[in-house]
Amino acid sequence: MIVYLNGQFLPKTEARISPDDRAFLFADGAYEVVRAYRGHLFRAKEHWDRFDYSLKALRIAPPANTDFSAIATELLKRNQLLEAEATAYLQVTRGAAPRKHAFPADTTPTVYAFAAPFANPVEKWTNGVKVITLPDQRWARCDIKSISLLPNVLANQQAQEAGAHEAILVRDGFALEGSLSNFAAVLDGVLHTAPRTNYILPGISRLVALGLCSALRIPVREFPVAEAELKCATEAMLFGTTNEVMPVVQINDRKLGDGRPGPVTRQLQQAFRDYVEECRSRG
Ligand code: PDD
Repeated sequence: MIVYLNGQFLPKTEARISPDDRAFLFADGAYEVVRAYRGHLFRAKEHWDRFDYSLKALRIAPPANTDFSAIATELLKRNQLLEAEATAYLQVTRGAAPRKHAFPADTTPTVYAFAAPFANPVEKWTNGVKVITLPDQRWARCDIKSISLLPNVLANQQAQEAGAHEAILVRDGFALEGSLSNFAAVLDGVLHTAPRTNYILPGISRLVALGLCSALRIPVREFPVAEAELKCATEAMLFGTTNEVMPVVQINDRKLGDGRPGPVTRQLQQAFRDYVEECRSRG
């Protein structure tokens, strides 16, 4: 596997990162992940804009002229993934320096990137998934795509152990988003999803899905669903780079509707797939 590290493409076995890297010591960095559909980087601009936002919020300046699209494409090429389904991850940290909380004076950020094959979750797209609700134990800057993901990791692990695909995080009584996806539920025919605040990641897939809702005339309310109201939801779904539009058919012990993906979810899921195909063929 060929990876990218600080300006070089090299075998992963030769990639060396200092134990003083602040990613290791403080989880001090940000990341992005883009889906590559047979070489097409889906909504790359939105991802790099969000990367820029995250890095600015953390006051990390990646080396000037770092072209993330070019790096991702070159990784796909060197790993024979240009014709495949894949993801590309880009991680930028504040760099290596002796351990001290405050920013070191002269560190060069570490830039690491890798591409990996991706298997579409076809069975889950078809039949839908179970999710569980858990308390949101994250910080108050969930809008930053930080590499500091421990609460997400713990919540996701708990979901896996409960036989669920995702954990929906509940803060102050409201179901906000998943450990690695955004969340929406249909109540009285209206798609509800948490608004863009510091308590959710502004998902690119969420943005695409909301645009599709508008085109399909699916009514939307950008307001989170109270945990107590989840029992009134007729449908629910996840949005995310690795989920696209993922039908949710069970929340905790309760099945939604007849336990099959509902009509709004299906419509949106198909529209998302069509849109991906359209973007890919346009290049
Ligand atoms: N996660 N919310 C959280 C907490 C996320 O980590 C993600 C993405 C999303 C969806 O955002 P987008 O549509 O831009 O992928 C929402 C990625 C897939 C990950 O960490 O692997």
